[in-house]
Amino acid sequence: MTQPPITYEHIKTCKQSGARLGIVHTPHGSFETPVFMPVGTLATVKTMSPQELKEIGAGIILSNTYHLWLRPGEDIVKEAGGLHKFMNWDRPILTDSGGFQVFSLSDLREIDEQGVHFRNHLSGAKLYLTPERSMEIQNALGPDIMMAFDECPPYPAEYDYMKASVERTSRWAERCLKAHGRPNEQGLFGIVQGGEYSDLRKQSAKDLVSLDFPGYAVGGLSVGEPKPIMNQVLEETTPLLPTDKPRYLMGVGSPDSLIDGAIRGIDMFDCVLPTRIARNGTCMTSEGRVVVRNAKYARDFSPLDPNCDCAVCQNYSRAYLRHLIKCDETFGYRLTSYHNLYFLIQLMDDLRQAIREDRTLDFREAFFEQYGFNRP
Ligand code: GUN
Ligand code: ZN
Repeated sequence: MTQPPITYEHIKTCKQSGARLGIVHTPHGSFETPVFMPVGTLATVKTMSPQELKEIGAGIILSNTYHLWLRPGEDIVKEAGGLHKFMNWDRPILTDSGGFQVFSLSDLREIDEQGVHFRNHLSGAKLYLTPERSMEIQNALGPDIMMAFDECPPYPAEYDYMKASVERTSRWAERCLKAHGRPNEQGLFGIVQGGEYSDLRKQSAKDLVSLDFPGYAVGGLSVGEPKPIMNQVLEETTPLLPTDKPRYLMGVGSPDSLIDGAIRGIDMFDCVLPTRIARNGTCMTSEGRVVVRNAKYARDFSPLDPNCDCAVCQNYSRAYLRHLIKCDETFGYRLTSYHNLYFLIQLMDDLRQAIREDRTLDFREAFFEQYGFNRP
């Protein structure tokens, strides 16, 4: 019996919360969890070289089936030798299935039992994505972890719609497993849906767990629901997932939500937030958000974050960053992206240390206080 492509090694659970310390093993090496995955939608984490991603300690990155299917096409990536070779990243890669992107980026989508009809957000051409096609594309791209093709309904959605959607997502998950052509080389994760409805989350988790995926995602969150709802859904959902598999909260990347997800037993996170706000001149720092493009930083020659060890904070000032971004200089976006990703990766590193030392709730309290979440 060969080793399955994705395995989870549980190191320990914090004595103060549900936070888990673990290691996920993949064909391209291992990463420690909880982990934040930088997003490289088009086979690049915007403005960052793979060398820089390694410098800041990125253990795994995410890319997108939908985008790479449209451009350059999965056949070209396959011909290059797969996504790792194509982009020169030799650590683990996870690809999202296209389910979510079809819903968030394209118009005129129409769902039926077979799949989703929609328009290409670039050319307007009619396209069709099914569970089988998503697997075929992800098998060609060759990430270590592939995601099942799911439906992520908007928030809020009517109960009856959500129920029908959850049931269809379970049937699609089964089709994904059947269509997966490289099960010995790539792991396929199932995605739990169900919105804010406890019984539907329960049904979704039960359906997917019975299919025995090597990992599970919680999807359909961070779609506009209030924060307490996300926390409640996580509290109700993670206990339904196997303890010997990784759990991934999709599309979440604000520092507070990373901590709140981890203490409820989430192991993996991804989000465009750090890189997106960076290109807009907004930075995450130990003292909260700094909108470095603001006029008040014009003569501020101090580092972006006095408590950050990253190369940007060691070498450049807020005034310089503001100047570059005001002038729309590419280097400015590189520097703010670098810092923001470093900040979240370092946060997860600190959180893992807090798990080792059984003090995750104290860590949360101290971080929220310093970041300013506790201020009125
Ligand atoms: N990214 C953020 N949320 C989701 C989701 O619910 N499903 C998928 N496939 N991707 C996501
Ligand atoms: Zn920094």
